[in-house]
Formats: sequence, structure tokens, C-alpha cells
Amino acid sequence: PFTLATLPEATGARLAVIGKPIAHSLSPRMHQPALDEAGIDARYIALEIEPGQVGEAFARMRELGFIGCNVTVPHKFDALAACGEIDDTARDLGAVNTVRFDPDATRGTNTDGIGFEHAVRETLGLSLPGLAVMIVGAGGGAGGAIAAHCARTGVSRLILANRTLSKIEALAQQLRDRHPGLQIETVAAEEISAPAADLLVNTTSLGLKDGDPSPFPVQLLTPQLAVFDTIYQPTALIRAAQAVGAPHAQGNLMLLHQGIAAFHYWFPDTNPESAMRSGLGR
Ligand code: ATR
Repeated sequence: PFTLATLPEATGARLAVIGKPIAHSLSPRMHQPALDEAGIDARYIALEIEPGQVGEAFARMRELGFIGCNVTVPHKFDALAACGEIDDTARDLGAVNTVRFDPDATRGTNTDGIGFEHAVRETLGLSLPGLAVMIVGAGGGAGGAIAAHCARTGVSRLILANRTLSKIEALAQQLRDRHPGLQIETVAAEEISAPAADLLVNTTSLGLKDGDPSPFPVQLLTPQLAVFDTIYQPTALIRAAQAVGAPHAQGNLMLLHQGIAAFHYWFPDTNPESAMRSGLGR
């Protein structure tokens, strides 16, 4: 990947994904074919940025004539602060994952919620409005954004679970204030009982490593509880869901769908989906 020091050497670069680590990001593989197909003369690069350097990175990219960038871990909160203007989606999700360097302002949005919603629809055939959703790991950045998106899209009920209960109490209160009609409960992960939910979402990092346990007591799984795991590879939770005959899906398509929405934020009148799917092999 490029760094702030080597950025001027990135000939033709006008879009980037910033993060750390970033070398294995699939975003260039998805966005470059879409740019090429749309006839947009721009190179999309991976750019490794140190924590605390997001503002500087935005300034450098602006100077070099960048159109925008995607933002990933660990910079999504700093990116929100570094934008001159953010939209309601970014404000509600509390983070920015897509930035546009407009002449008059650096603008930010967040397409992670849409990415989640469209991935759930494509893989499980479920649409969020009216659904009762339990999120385990809602204390993290990804879980918080997904919880906020669920609340915005009109789920009927939200159950937030986390190992550390204190980390979700503030989020729950914020969502209650913002969505007075929505039923929101919190539960410590070790006290989870059979959830009155249609969809269980794992946003913890459990499953990233081989041998990680399930973040949800697998004896509580039923064929009526669909399971969506944001981890890209099969996890103990996904294997258990499969074993009980529950509808289940992994998170890979979130990347595609947040990417399509990001591309539309930069280039509204385009249709990047098929080029992106080919780029990702999906
Ligand atoms: P991200 O911002 O990428 O979502 P994160 O902020 O590190 O990642 O959050 C990880 C989430 O996974 C948190 O909800 C965390 O629970 P805590 O708030 O209690 O730390 C959860 N998590 C991580 N490791 C876990 C483990 N071994 N058991 C249960 N939950 C875990």
C-alpha cells in the first residue's frame, strides 16, 4: 500500500481506501473495475494511514485532486470529525466510511448500514422493516453502526447484547431518545436467554480466529432464528446455525453492497454492480 510519504508517487490515483492495516483490503479489487467500466479516468489505491493522521490524509488527498475515499478500521470515527459536513446517516451511525472531496467542502456519509441491509436481503431474503433483531457485540464500532441502521430502518424490536454491558447502555439510551416508538433491550452476553427475535447478528470479533467459541449460546438456536455473521469465514455460530437448520449467512456481501453505495455517492448516475461483483468473484 501507499503511505502519506509515498502518496505523490501514486500516478493517476484519485480514490483510495484508508485504514491500518490496509494491504489486504479488497476495495481496490472491487472499485477499479467499476471505474474502468464507467470510463472514469481514476486509479483507486490502498493507503495506509496512522491513527491520528486522518485530517492530514484528507488535506493531502485534496491537494492531489482526489475525488474521495473510503475509510476503514481504525479511522471511521476520526473521519467523522475530519469532515466539514456529514449527512444524517453518518451522524446517526456515529462514523464515516465514505468521503467526497467537493470543491467547497469535504463531505462524509456512511454506507455500512445499507451494506448490511442489502447483504441480509440478498443472502437471507429478509427485509429489515418490522423485523425483531438481536445484535451480539453491539459494543463495537461495527455493531453500533448496524444497531443504529436497524433503528433507522424501522425494525420492530432491537435486542442489544454485549460481553461488557456498560458499553451498550449509552447506545441503547441514544437510540431510545431518537426512536421513541422502538422497543430496545440490553442484555449481558453471559445472560442471553432465548431471544424473541427473527434475526441474530454477530458483530463481535469472535470467529476471526480458528477455535473461537460462538458469541451466542448455540443451544438457543432454532430453525426460526435466522443468523447473519459479519465475519467473512465460517464461524462456530454459523456451523451451529447450519446444524439446527436455521437460515444463515456470512458477511462477505456487506463489502460489495457498501461499496456499491459508496460508488453512487461519488458517481450518482452509474451502475457499478456487475463490475464490482466480477472484481470480487461474486
Ligand atoms: P469493531 O469496532 O471493529 O466492531 P471492536 O470495537 O473491537 O471492533 O468491538 C468488538 C466487539 O466484539 C465488542 O462488542 C466486544 O465486546 P466488549 O465490548 O465486551 O469488548 C466484542 N468481543 C471481542 N472479543 C470478544 C470475546 N472474546 N468475547 C465476547 N465478545 C467479544
